Amino acid sequence: MEPPVVEKLLALLSDREAEQAKVARMLHDDAGQVLSAIGLHLEVLRVDLTPEQSAQVADIQKLLEMVISRIRAASQALHVNVVERAGLGFALEQLASKAREKGTGITVQLQVAPGERWPNEPAHAAYRIVAELLENAMRHAGAQRIEIRMQSGVLEVRDDGRGFDIEKKTAGLGLLLCRHLAKRSRLGFSIQSGTGQGTIVKLTLHGH
Ligand SMILES: Nc1ncnc2c1ncn2[C@@H]1O[C@H](COP(=O)(O)OP(=O)(O)OP(=O)(O)O)[C@@H](O)[C@H]1O
Ligand SMILES: [Mg+2]
Repeated sequence: MEPPVVEKLLALLSDREAEQAKVARMLHDDAGQVLSAIGLHLEVLRVDLTPEQSAQVADIQKLLEMVISRIRAASQALHVNVVERAGLGFALEQLASKAREKGTGITVQLQVAPGERWPNEPAHAAYRIVAELLENAMRHAGAQRIEIRMQSGVLEVRDDGRGFDIEKKTAGLGLLLCRHLAKRSRLGFSIQSGTGQGTIVKLTLHGH
């Protein structure tokens, strides 16, 4: 049985993502396409105009293009699913560089085996899990070094920090959510840690 609070949190998260994706699509497909159509109509109009009028319409077309490209950028920013657009490796690189910016003095290393490709669903879950693991390593571990490795269907995040007792109950929700995200996407999830030993978390793609 899933604890109801976790189920609720997961449902809220996916509702929010679905809503953002909808707004992104509306912006891009609806608004973007109508504006492109206006641009085309103006192009046809220009044929029968005096040179000055035509130049003015050309200016309007330039403004339209600007609006269209802004809409495209906004739609992409809203489309949080960088994992699906650019692949898990790229998305992890973004997480790693964010962590480097935040944790001055901590080395964050990322190694992705060439040709490593995960299906969308587990990749998306893995991205969210790694985000939480990095957050934890930065906040709790006092680590010097964090390594993320992805190879042959296994994604590993390890830090050389103080470690912790994985049996001990905490008020935190992060790891609980990670476990549930992993389970939902049929990813294996295991933590190896102990006081003074650093922490290794392994995610395993189903069938590996
Ligand atoms: N990499 C780590 N190194 C050392 N301790 C850790 C590490 N990851 C987790 N912990 C310990 O495990 C606890 C539980 O982690 P969890 O992510 O579930 O909760 P949290 O980070 O405390 O809070 P939340 O994630 O809800 O903001 C942490 O409070 C911390 O004591
Ligand atoms: Mg946490």
